[in-house]
Amino acid sequence: MSDDPTEATTHEAGPDPRKAHKAHVVPDLPAGVKPARVRTFVRRGRLSSLTKDRVERLAPARSLPEGPFDATVAFGRAAPVVLEIGCGHGHAAIAYAAAFPDHDILAMDVHTPGLARMLADADGAGVPNLRVEIGDAVLFLEERVADATFDAVHLFFPDPWRKQKHTKRRFVSSAHLDLLARVLKRGGHVLIATDQDFYAEHALAEVAAHARFEAHRIERPQWRPREGFEAKGVAAGRTITELRLDLVP
Ligand SMILES: C[S@@+](CC[C@H](N)C(=O)[O-])C[C@H]1O[C@@H](n2cnc3c(N)ncnc32)[C@H](O)[C@@H]1O
Repeated sequence: MSDDPTEATTHEAGPDPRKAHKAHVVPDLPAGVKPARVRTFVRRGRLSSLTKDRVERLAPARSLPEGPFDATVAFGRAAPVVLEIGCGHGHAAIAYAAAFPDHDILAMDVHTPGLARMLADADGAGVPNLRVEIGDAVLFLEERVADATFDAVHLFFPDPWRKQKHTKRRFVSSAHLDLLARVLKRGGHVLIATDQDFYAEHALAEVAAHARFEAHRIERPQWRPREGFEAKGVAAGRTITELRLDLVP
């Protein structure tokens, strides 16, 4: 992960057809995992042997079965189910799983080293109610998730994409709100945290223009550890904005 993805090397398929195929490859993704057309994340390099070892040893026990997502099959029970998009090193997902053993949580990221670290930490923590999916959450939701599947979606410290020309890469967008509205159960919600004031304003404006969500500023969730990008934002003197988007009929 980058602290400042706004300066990261991102690309879009250019006019040169010889480069188009190469431009669509994200080296951090396992074979067969496709990136979304407009990516909300930064491309990565090669995987270390530690990451490969952790994934090989620990991912199978927490991975989803192939095909359409079925929470009762994935978790082996019927329970409230939460999706965390962009979980990074997974500290929030592990903490949620530990704090709410009667809920199930699926943590997703495209960043394999972060997920590998999360798998190692989850192994130490136990948390049988945590599953992990490596890949683009947008494609996952579009292709494998039925309507009204999740009770909640967590989006903590999404890549802000500061530059105007990168606005379309911000996760909170009209198209993604449509997607989240489809996969949330009635009465469901989205939790968002950000340490970027402009991103909070962006999210509030997108939600205000969307018919299916109402945004509320909320207190910081007590169960979430002060780690990762939250800790970096606080250390840099930034204010953390916490939002809950309630799905409305
Ligand atoms: C700024 S980091 C925050 C990580 C973590 N939530 C934290 O608070 O420390 C944003 C993360 O979102 C991930 N991400 C961005 N777009 C994504 C997508 N479409 N699907 C899955 N993960 C995504 C990135 O790979 C990155 O790890």
